[in-house]
Amino acid sequence: MRLCSLLLLCLAAALSSTFVISPPHMWTKLILTHHWPSTFCSMEHPACHPNISYWTLHGLWPDKGIDCNSSWHFNSSQIEDLLPDMKTSWPDLLNPLSSSFWKYEWHKHGTCAAKAPSLNSQHKYFSKALELYHKVDLDSILKKFDITPSEKYYKLSQIEGVIENFYSVKPKIQCVHPSKNADFQILGQIEICFNPDFTLLDCEKQFTMETTSKGDWDNPVAVDKASGFSVCDHDMPVYYPPLP
Ligand SMILES: *[C@@H]1O[C@H](CO)[C@@H](O)[C@H](O)[C@H]1NC(C)=O
Ligand SMILES: *[C@@H]1O[C@H](CO)[C@@H](O)[C@H](O)[C@H]1NC(C)=O
Ligand SMILES: *[C@@H]1O[C@H](CO)[C@@H](O)[C@H](O)[C@H]1NC(C)=O
Repeated sequence: MRLCSLLLLCLAAALSSTFVISPPHMWTKLILTHHWPSTFCSMEHPACHPNISYWTLHGLWPDKGIDCNSSWHFNSSQIEDLLPDMKTSWPDLLNPLSSSFWKYEWHKHGTCAAKAPSLNSQHKYFSKALELYHKVDLDSILKKFDITPSEKYYKLSQIEGVIENFYSVKPKIQCVHPSKNADFQILGQIEICFNPDFTLLDCEKQFTMETTSKGDWDNPVAVDKASGFSVCDHDMPVYYPPLP
């Protein structure tokens, strides 16, 4: 009898620890998304005037969940100390003086990321995103290996090669296809992925879960529309646009 209950206890402990480590509703990957301001602003955004020629943050997205807690309101006074860095590294390209982009990202993705104790406050979420952005330092790495905005075209494999060699993981690189018949694509977004412990991880080449939109963050456009980002095509030249 005693042995039996001991065994049961052990079994229960083993089972519960499996679930604690990876509950089914929990995200398993974080996606650090960078966008290229010139490309973003070229996507039918009349209000957008890019004067920034470095990769900025779009977001830090868990792979599971959207809008996980609508009653957890964004409050910029909780990230007061981060605001100077936010304005430079994570600018709202449509409304440089507003915090609506951060609010949007918090509600859509941050409230889901917050299911992990390591990200369960607005300060933890935004400061971790900034920390990963600076650690990855994508803009400097591309420059260092001669991937710079240019009127000449790149091969996708050149850009991918630099990132894979440097970080030893696969990024997801997204482009805008200016029209159905265009013979080039425009570099728009680069995702670098992380494990829940914030170590680097290969991104999967699946479709993007968030795309940008016409003049408003809250109005996403489907990926297959001409104005959305989709995974870059290996057989098409890549345009990495300088500031207009
Ligand atoms: C870009 O322009 C905005 C609005 O004119 C300005 O507030 C911001 O400081 C500029 N950014 C840079 C990097 O020049
Ligand atoms: C949602 O956020 C509110 C405010 O932070 C919190 O009190 C509540 O526990 C959260 N709900 C869930 C399901 O996490
Ligand atoms: C925002 O956060 C600050 C600092 O924690 C707090 O004093 C304030 O009441 C909050 N505002 C709202 C509207 O919750």
